[in-house]
Amino acid sequence: MSVVALVPAAGRGERLGLGVAKAFVPIAGHPLLWHAVRGVLASGCVDAVVVAAPGSDLERAVATMARLGEAVSVVAGGATRVESVRLALQHADAMLPEIDVVLVHDAARAFTPPAVFTAVVDAVRRGHPAVVPVLPLVDTVKQVDGTGRVVATVDRSTLRSVQTPQGFAPDLLRRAHEQSGGDGVTDDAGLVEALGEPVHAVPGDPTALKITTPFDLALAEAVLAR
Ligand code: CTP
Ligand code: MG
Repeated sequence: MSVVALVPAAGRGERLGLGVAKAFVPIAGHPLLWHAVRGVLASGCVDAVVVAAPGSDLERAVATMARLGEAVSVVAGGATRVESVRLALQHADAMLPEIDVVLVHDAARAFTPPAVFTAVVDAVRRGHPAVVPVLPLVDTVKQVDGTGRVVATVDRSTLRSVQTPQGFAPDLLRRAHEQSGGDGVTDDAGLVEALGEPVHAVPGDPTALKITTPFDLALAEAVLAR
């Protein structure tokens, strides 16, 4: 039985604003996507990786991944993150017969530490069919209406921000992607929740931050330099 990681990396990186697909933004001499997949492999608990790359830059993605070995394959991603994951999942199912855990891991969380991968895989294998790494919120949270008026202060003690890798029993993730349109859903666990199935939370890690803005990129570079 094997663990496969699907790595959606087909986004354009518009909020980063560097005029290049986020997957190819260089960090310490290597593209972000290289760091991300190297991190997946370094966890030691993943047998195969399927990257969903920007369709317009497929060859570049293949060349970037060639340096990381045979366990990594590359497919063209879709117009949305949900579509990119779906395409990578179809490829994994066609290639690998005996998957027992599927991870979905944003390339943009390129510096996620190994312990988060192993915690998610372990939780799926312990019997949780859907698992997400989470962090508590540090800021006070308020609900605001369209005019900017504060409507309420929300009790943050029950709220968590959600990271990747998210882990799934393969049948559940397949069903979630088959049955959901994915409208407005920003993570795969959200598709599982839409089926009414339970999702289990395990501790995430601050260094698994999603590189979205130039500030995040600076932060990630600092994490790497340390
Ligand atoms: N992603 C994808 N396919 C898409 C859109 C996003 O595989 N059609 C991936 C991104 O490459 C990223 C992850 O989903 O690894 C999370 O998306 P996000 O952080 O929003 O990245 P981008 O979509 O690239 O950034 P932006 O929204 O600023 O353009
Ligand atoms: Mg996006």
